[in-house]
Amino acid sequence: MEIEHKNQNYNILKDAKDLFEIEYVYENQPIKRSFNKPSLKDRQSLLEKLKTKISEISNCELKENAKQIVFSDGNPESPVMIIGEGPGQKEDEVGKPFVGDAGLLLNKMLDAINIKRPKVYITNVVNFRPPNNRKPETSEINRYALYLREHINIIDPKILILMGSTAMEALFGQTLKISKERGKWKELIVNQKTYQTILTFHPAYLLRQPDQKKYSWSDLKTIRKKLDDLKITI
Ligand code: URA
Repeated sequence: MEIEHKNQNYNILKDAKDLFEIEYVYENQPIKRSFNKPSLKDRQSLLEKLKTKISEISNCELKENAKQIVFSDGNPESPVMIIGEGPGQKEDEVGKPFVGDAGLLLNKMLDAINIKRPKVYITNVVNFRPPNNRKPETSEINRYALYLREHINIIDPKILILMGSTAMEALFGQTLKISKERGKWKELIVNQKTYQTILTFHPAYLLRQPDQKKYSWSDLKTIRKKLDDLKITI
C-alpha cells in the first residue's frame, strides 16, 4: 500500500485548488516569516544612498545656507539611536552631529548611564544647519521626517531617544508637549515595525535651563533600566 504523506494544510489547499483551479507552485524552502537585519555592508550602502538622496534635496533654504550635510555619527549597528534637532555652527563646520557644547553635554549624559558615545548612533531631524540656528519650520520638519523614517528603518535600533521638541514633532506630530511627555516609553511605528521610543529634553535646552537637569537625569535612569530589562548590552 502506498502511504501518502500530507501536512495539516493539505486538504484545505487541495479543496481551494479544485475550487479555484489555481496552479500552486510548491517550494521546498520554509516561508520566511521574520525579516533579517541587513548586514553591516548592506546597511552602510543603504546609508550612503540615503545620504546622497538628502544631499540632492532641492529648494531647501537650510541646504542653501549650510556649509555641508551633517548626516550621522556613531555605530550603525547600535541598539540605541539618538535623534536631535539639527546641526549648529560647529556641526556645520565639522560635518558631524553633536560636536559642540550640546554634544559635550550629551557625551556626559551618556557616560552617566555607562554608555560610551561611539557605541550609539546619532542623527538629527534636519541634516543642514538652519540659518542663524533658527528652529526648523514645520514644513521643513515634515519634509525631512520622510528621510528620518527611512534612516530609522535602516538602523533598526532597539530603542530610540528623541531629544527635544523638534524630534518629537517630526515623529509624533505637533500635538504633544515635551514637558508632559518626556520620560515615558511610547511606541513609534515605522515601516510596520514598532520602536520603543522615549522623549527627553535636548541638551542645548539643559544648557540654558540647568534647573531642568533633574528631569533629564530621571529620563536617563529610565533609559538605563529599559536597556537592562531588555538585556541590551551596549
Ligand atoms: N543640536 C542638535 O540638535 N543637533 C546637533 O547636532 C547639535 C546641536
